[in-house]
Amino acid sequence: MSSSGIGEELAYQLSKIGALLAISARREDELERVKKKCLRNNLGEKDILVLRLDLTDRSSHEAATNSVLKHFGKIDVLVNNGGRSQRSLFVDTNLDVYSAIMELNYLGTISLTKHVLNHMIQRKKGKIVTVSSVMGIMGAPLASGYCASKHALQGFFNSLRTELTDYPEISIINICPGPVQSKIIQNVFTENLAKSIENSGDQSHKMPTDRCVRLTLVSTANDLKEAWISDHPYLAVCYLWQYAPTWAWWLMNRMGKRRIQNFKSGVVSLFLAPLLAFFNSADRLFSHGNAGIAFWIRFFFPSSLPQQLLPGQTPSLRAF
Ligand SMILES: NC(=O)c1ccc[n+]([C@@H]2O[C@H](COP(=O)([O-])OP(=O)(O)OC[C@H]3O[C@@H](n4cnc5c(N)ncnc54)[C@H](OP(=O)(O)O)[C@@H]3O)[C@@H](O)[C@H]2O)c1
Repeated sequence: MSSSGIGEELAYQLSKIGALLAISARREDELERVKKKCLRNNLGEKDILVLRLDLTDRSSHEAATNSVLKHFGKIDVLVNNGGRSQRSLFVDTNLDVYSAIMELNYLGTISLTKHVLNHMIQRKKGKIVTVSSVMGIMGAPLASGYCASKHALQGFFNSLRTELTDYPEISIINICPGPVQSKIIQNVFTENLAKSIENSGDQSHKMPTDRCVRLTLVSTANDLKEAWISDHPYLAVCYLWQYAPTWAWWLMNRMGKRRIQNFKSGVVSLFLAPLLAFFNSADRLFSHGNAGIAFWIRFFFPSSLPQQLLPGQTPSLRAF
């Protein structure tokens, strides 16, 4: 889904390396804009197929897959990227919102996967990359439906992988980004389907889109089963959820309480703001030569695997 954010940047970076692309989303005009930009990277008109696709219209997914196969003859990589997040408390949210989130983020994704996988099984080859989230690993306030949909994707693709052991050349790759600069907040689900968010807040603390996409491509090229792509403190919190959940629950309860209070009083606050401040000050100390603290943090919260696959990079807390 390439009409904005991570998907748009994926289209640019893939076109730069000469990949043939089928780009899809609901807004065809936005896709044409992205295609125009991709064409500057030495691709020909026929190398990029613009395909209008609504993930929630599952009856259209077989025809969409066939259009791509008719145009290119094969599909090497499917990137499941389309999705929307949520900003609302469960108690205030209409169940229709939960249904819509699951229909889009989960059912739409697995429906498209089903059609493309049939083709990959015939070829005994392919990669299915799904942009999940760190919210597929942890829980967070104001995003219970979104977290549920990403946990569902994680469970689904981890299980699907175990059903494909006869096809060692078909890879299932789950990408779990932390906060990344994109239009995701403008497009969030709220308490009811008709309401949109009033203030999307500051994005500057989030990982730049191009960095997230670069690490996604490194993870894809290396067939990583799961890649956590995030700055601290979100990455550190992922490690807590994975290895010390009791501490993670304690922390989330404390920070979640403050976040809910801010949300209720209309204040747009950064999630885990006190931790963000802590890591930023450690980062400043590091850049002033105090490597001890940085080493301590790196030792306890090692960087995500994709970073380790890029040995030429200067170690930096910011570079996780
Ligand atoms: N940004 C983050 O902080 C972050 C963190 C973790 C995970 N993610 C995940 O990354 C993925 C991309 O999000 P983003 O951050 O790039 O947000 P974004 O800028 O809002 O992009 C969302 C994309 O999904 C498409 N989409 C939405 N509804 C669709 C539908 N019904 N059918 C087809 N396409 C649809 C949109 O295209 P149209 O509106 O044109 O259809 C758009 O291209 C999502 O799965 C999100 O959960 C994002």
